[in-house]
Amino acid sequence: MRGTRQQIEVVPTPADVTIVAQQLISAAANVSIGKRGFFRVALAGGSTPRAVYTALAAGENLNWERWQIFWSDERCVPPTSPDSNYRMAKETLLDPLAHRGDAPRMVVRLAGDGDPDAAAAAYERAVRETVPANPASGAGQLPRFDLILLGMGADGHTASLFPHTTALAETERLVVANEAPKLNTTRLTFTFPLINASRRVLVLVGGADKAPALHKVLAGPRDPDLYPSQRLHPVDGTVTWLVDAAAHSQT
Ligand code: 6PG
Repeated sequence: MRGTRQQIEVVPTPADVTIVAQQLISAAANVSIGKRGFFRVALAGGSTPRAVYTALAAGENLNWERWQIFWSDERCVPPTSPDSNYRMAKETLLDPLAHRGDAPRMVVRLAGDGDPDAAAAAYERAVRETVPANPASGAGQLPRFDLILLGMGADGHTASLFPHTTALAETERLVVANEAPKLNTTRLTFTFPLINASRRVLVLVGGADKAPALHKVLAGPRDPDLYPSQRLHPVDGTVTWLVDAAAHSQT
């Protein structure tokens, strides 16, 4: 079946978000490795996935040598910075895995420490070289991740696709440097064409501060420049909103 499948899964607490996310990611990895030999996944930054990465590293062996790991966005900082999304995943997932003797097949860091436009272009090339397209899908020739993990900010942004920023309208490039004037910063981010070509998009949302935006994104009038997460519609895939009760309290 072609088209977007949307699932909204509401769980009581942030701890439940972690448990269910771990289950969904593990299942997606097993299915992808079984069908295609690899699990091609993009990780998210922010604080919510931290516990999920820790749980994945401590859980069952997931055939890590078949994982190809990317990032859906990155801050323009060195990989050693406390703000680095790479560093967060390294500390919570990659280092614990290495400690127990496991290593993903491929870890492709989105380099926040160089020229942002060059880093975005290099990452786009790396994605195209590694992640095959599925011409039979409605996503055409775009690289098709097995899973893209995302969060959502209290302003409705996802990845580093902030309200009213230029990257929202991108239709050609897969990875761009996006200026976020309100944050006075530039971020590197996947664009919607790449995100929406994915087989599966998993959005983790927790906390009462996200409740107004989640309501607007899921149930409000369409205004995707103001609420960028409204653009999450995999053309031939599933988007799962995994939210805790506090975040869902106004929807
Ligand atoms: C980042 C993100 C961003 C994040 C949301 C939610 O680098 O910060 O990728 O899009 O996922 O802002 O962040 P929290 O999980 O911290 O609420």
